[in-house]
Amino acid sequence: MPEEAVGQQRRAEGQVELQRDGHGGTVPDTRPPEAGPYAPRMRIVIPGGTGQVGGVLRRALAARGDEVTVLSRRPQRLEDGVRHVVWDGRTPGPWGAEVDGADAVVNLAGRTVSCRYTDANLRQMMDSRVDSTRAVGAAIARAARPPRVWLQMSTATIYADARSRGDDLPHDEANGVLGGEEPGVPLYWEYSVRIARRWERAQAEADVPTTRRVALRTAMVMTPDRGGVFDYLSGMARLGLGGPVAGGGQHVSWIHGEDFVRVVEFLLERDDLDGPFIVAAPDPVPQRELMRSLRRAWGRRLGLPATRLMAEVGAFALRTDTELLLKSRRVVPGRLLEAGFAFAHPTWAEAAVDLAAQARRLRQRA
Ligand SMILES: NC(=O)c1ccc[n+]([C@@H]2O[C@H](COP(=O)([O-])OP(=O)(O)OC[C@H]3O[C@@H](n4cnc5c(N)ncnc54)[C@H](OP(=O)(O)O)[C@@H]3O)[C@@H](O)[C@H]2O)c1
Repeated sequence: MPEEAVGQQRRAEGQVELQRDGHGGTVPDTRPPEAGPYAPRMRIVIPGGTGQVGGVLRRALAARGDEVTVLSRRPQRLEDGVRHVVWDGRTPGPWGAEVDGADAVVNLAGRTVSCRYTDANLRQMMDSRVDSTRAVGAAIARAARPPRVWLQMSTATIYADARSRGDDLPHDEANGVLGGEEPGVPLYWEYSVRIARRWERAQAEADVPTTRRVALRTAMVMTPDRGGVFDYLSGMARLGLGGPVAGGGQHVSWIHGEDFVRVVEFLLERDDLDGPFIVAAPDPVPQRELMRSLRRAWGRRLGLPATRLMAEVGAFALRTDTELLLKSRRVVPGRLLEAGFAFAHPTWAEAAVDLAAQARRLRQRA
């Protein structure tokens, strides 16, 4: 039963529930059952909430009864129950009033990394992340009633190529090695790590002593929607092109979109947790296995292998970068597991089947 309906039923049965009071505390929910849908549990601001990850997150939070405000650069109409407010991602403005008095900020803003790594694009990738994070920090610092918690998007790309470790261990928060200094690392791989480090530093340096800060070192977020990474990989698998790339031994870390949402909800609630968290399923897989499971999920057997050179040509044609295909990203969510988080989709073989089924249903409905 949806949580909203559970809330209504409990109230109808005379049970008193706790709900957020909008300022970080809780109050008993004594509204009568006829008060309609479950009242907002939290006021949450999502800068950069118009994108692929933001879409999944804002819909889920709005559906559970949170009051959600998205900040983005272009006015647009979002789902019922989700407010949209314009900002420029860089400078203070009236949007700061949304942050003042909110319970939480989840900042997702950043220019897409799925592009050619030209000088101009690399600069925008850096500036859009660092500037927007600083702007969020400044708004929180100025707020009369600062949010209780600030979840800041980061990336699992911050860790070194897993094959450079020698000990064959996946990276976690305790023993992981940050990237950029692996021998022979291509310059633009190093730059991606530099972006990630400065992104996190911008959050760490903000003057927000009463706000709990969490950095989400997130792996590829797999959702069934059009235009996301799962859609792109599925397209390859369905065309029979999704074989091993450059041998396919490089690991891919990933997380099901539903688990991403559940991690955010978990970290919003847990006042005892702060700092960097790896947001990835505990089952990173070699690229050839990732694609094999995906082909199975789509009922395809054949996957043509691609050499490193073919990956470079293919990446050029797709206007993306080989780093996304060739770097070995092998991270595991040590801190989340230690804190008791349970994944709904811990293994790729099952997640791929679930996502393909959801994608088929979405296509049939479209
Ligand atoms: N998708 C993944 O698998 C994944 C994994 C790890 C980390 N991440 C990170 O998570 C964040 C969201 O990912 P996504 O896939 O949802 O990205 P996306 O679809 O490209 O959306 C990016 C968001 O950032 C905003 N944005 C773009 N350029 C901006 C700029 N110059 N200044 C301010 N805002 C800007 C966009 O908002 P407007 O254009 O509406 O202003 C949009 O809402 C990104 O920072 C990404 O690097 C994503």
